Amino acid sequence: MKSRSAGLKRIKAEKQKSQRLNVSAIQRLTTRLADAEAALLAIRTGEVDAVVVAGKQSPRVFTLEGAEHAYRVLIECMNEGALILTANGVILYANQSFATMVKLPLEQVLGSSFHRVLSVTNQAVLRPLLKRTVKSGFHIQALLHAGDGSQLPARISSCPLPKNGAKSANFGIVVTDMTETRRNEEMLRALTHRVVQAQEAERRLVALELHDHITQHLCAVLARWAALANKLPAREKTSRGEVMKLSQMLGQTVEEVQRISRNLRPSVLDELGLVPALRATCTEFAGRTGVSLKLACKPLTARLPAEGELALYRILQKALENVEKHARARHVTVRLRQRAFIQLTIHDDGIGFDPEHQRARRKGKGGLGLLSMRERATYVGGDFKIKSIRGAGTKIEVLIPLPPSSMETK
Ligand SMILES: Nc1ncnc2c1ncn2[C@@H]1O[C@H](COP(=O)(O)OP(=O)(O)OP(=O)(O)O)[C@@H](O)[C@H]1O
Ligand SMILES: [Mg+2]
Repeated sequence: MKSRSAGLKRIKAEKQKSQRLNVSAIQRLTTRLADAEAALLAIRTGEVDAVVVAGKQSPRVFTLEGAEHAYRVLIECMNEGALILTANGVILYANQSFATMVKLPLEQVLGSSFHRVLSVTNQAVLRPLLKRTVKSGFHIQALLHAGDGSQLPARISSCPLPKNGAKSANFGIVVTDMTETRRNEEMLRALTHRVVQAQEAERRLVALELHDHITQHLCAVLARWAALANKLPAREKTSRGEVMKLSQMLGQTVEEVQRISRNLRPSVLDELGLVPALRATCTEFAGRTGVSLKLACKPLTARLPAEGELALYRILQKALENVEKHARARHVTVRLRQRAFIQLTIHDDGIGFDPEHQRARRKGKGGLGLLSMRERATYVGGDFKIKSIRGAGTKIEVLIPLPPSSMETK
């Protein structure tokens, strides 16, 4: 009897359990049904552009018909040229901005080769990149040849165009007309150059004034002072001592004024050329600061144009000024070498700094030394690099090209 009632109880409990499970399953299914209905409604009313479905390796994206309309309008409104190319560079799609940019009718652009608007050099650069772009994007600067024979500087950015999550041989590119940017850069560069030229002219004038007037006056005072000292009777020991001290101070002032005048406009650069001018600057720096300086200067067989020499000279001056002000260095090495270009390096073993941090910090305030070094190098067609690590010193490298006309021997 006992076992029968226990059996009935168990059957009843199992029945209740299965009823509970059915209720929760029904609830789950009702919720999913409601979700599905909401999604269908959103698709029907155009609120959904694409559906993402979990794939074997990665999610797959299905774009719904008509959904690309908004993107198409956006791409047609862009100022930049937008294109879809095959891996061989055939233009499958281009917006009107690109056709306007290259001054060709859109019908002529579609189906043609993108290489046709590129110079031979740019084609050689671009072809291998286009092959590679299927995997990764790139950015390059190029010169586009427009239909009317004119040229325009452009920036070309590319990105692979995966199709529904899978790899595709096609890719998209965006072409930005850089004419305005280049023009602004050139204007800024020309302006900076004029400022530098005006500064140099001013320095030359001040140097001349210092040399021709102040130094001459000081020398005259010094000579008279010495004559006066000689006239003092030998017994006037204290007065003679004072006079001697004063003439010493005057002598030092004359030297200092001459040093400032030399720095303002180094006559040695004009008269003897770059190497003696660099040598004089290094000797003066080491003598005055006590920092040991090694100068490795191979004789140059070619002479740079005056602007190039002045740029290198001023860069060395500014770099040594920084060593003195900031580096706390014990040794400095200055190296001048001639290759296909002139290379100047200034290497100190000081405290170093973080150039990136320094660039970010500058924004409007701060020093102009590094900036002016870069500008001077760039203006004469050269390159300026700075490498510095906190605690491991600073290295500045400047490369100035040798123009063919300057290949006369020194
Ligand atoms: N050789 C160096 N060693 C350590 N820090 C340096 C060195 N050169 C530059 N710096 C750091 O970079 C900063 C910027 O240098 P920059 O020459 O541009 O300006 P500045 O020397 O502060 O001022 P200015 O050159 O206009 O008189 C310096 O303030 C310093 O912190
Ligand atoms: Mg400085």
